[in-house]
Amino acid sequence: MQRSARLKIDFDALTHNLSIVRQYSADANIIAVIKANAYGHGMLAVARHLQSRVDALAVACIEEALVLRADGINAAIMVLQGFQNQYQLQQCLDFDLQPVCHQQWQIQLLSQADSAQRINCWLKIDTGMHRLGIAPEQALLAAQQLNDAPVVAQLRLMSHFANADDSASAFNQIQLDRFNQCQQALGLEASLANSAAILSMPNAIQHWVRPGIMLYGASPFGHRAAADFGLKPVMTLTSQVIAINSLSAGQALGYGSLWRSSRDSQIAVVGIGYGDGYPRHANNGTPVWLNGQRLALVGQVSMDMICVDISDCDSTVNIGDEVTLWGGPLDINEVAEAASTISYELLCHCGKDQ
Ligand SMILES: Cc1ncc(COP(=O)(O)O)c(C=O)c1O
Repeated sequence: MQRSARLKIDFDALTHNLSIVRQYSADANIIAVIKANAYGHGMLAVARHLQSRVDALAVACIEEALVLRADGINAAIMVLQGFQNQYQLQQCLDFDLQPVCHQQWQIQLLSQADSAQRINCWLKIDTGMHRLGIAPEQALLAAQQLNDAPVVAQLRLMSHFANADDSASAFNQIQLDRFNQCQQALGLEASLANSAAILSMPNAIQHWVRPGIMLYGASPFGHRAAADFGLKPVMTLTSQVIAINSLSAGQALGYGSLWRSSRDSQIAVVGIGYGDGYPRHANNGTPVWLNGQRLALVGQVSMDMICVDISDCDSTVNIGDEVTLWGGPLDINEVAEAASTISYELLCHCGKDQ
């Protein structure tokens, strides 16, 4: 069976978004975050496209890094969770991967490593997110241990914001101050800014920036559209109208009979559902784009179908007409909000088999 849903990846948009990253981050080196299958865009294809255009790539784990190396990607690769055991540390050495060290036991393992190979490493400071990182009070000692480790070529410093997508949060400045204190004491090259910080906190831009979501053309801020920053969607999700029905006022539609038409309505059934990665929790009114017009999803999302109220469509809708679920003229953040989630989840989930 051929499903109607189509996922298009626009590499020109990716290049364009990278130019926006550059615009906001001055001379900083760029680490493109391509974990989770490049946020659903296809990790290998994205890595091949970006590797000569950025200074490094970042993935979550060693397994992702090894997939890149097996494909012949020879860019610098930062591994955000670092190694989990001695074997993975050896893989970092063998494949020239740059682990983030965020736990004391990782620093211990690195210090004891006996190898002629040398790698660059990142020391992660917990500036307040309390997820990964060494406490700022222990940063000096940790940096000394890592600098003394024979296998460490260059040590750099990094941290991560908890609330960068909330520009009004006072905690951003607190984290920045804590990080700057460590950085000044240690004198290491540093990396702090993700997309939200790149776009809204010029002071947080250090030697290296780590954009993820903005590369893919989505705004990291719920309340601001990607277009406000000149970002273009890289992923477009489309499908087709597969049926058109008339519904009398008062008739119910779909599973659970949860939506009832208040008037005589025309309904287009579109061949996409949660089986294709479209969010099952998309509410009535979630925007879809059909025949150059914004229309509303009605009824529950099924595994392979959604329904769209086309009663107010200006043009005739036909079987086979293309429907855009996000991308193109439809900002994914609007869809995410209507589905009580964030663009990151929609992208990762929809493109996990890319
Ligand atoms: C440590 C780290 N840096 C950078 C990023 C990129 O963040 P964003 O996609 O918001 O730019 C992430 C993403 O989760 C991350 O975990």
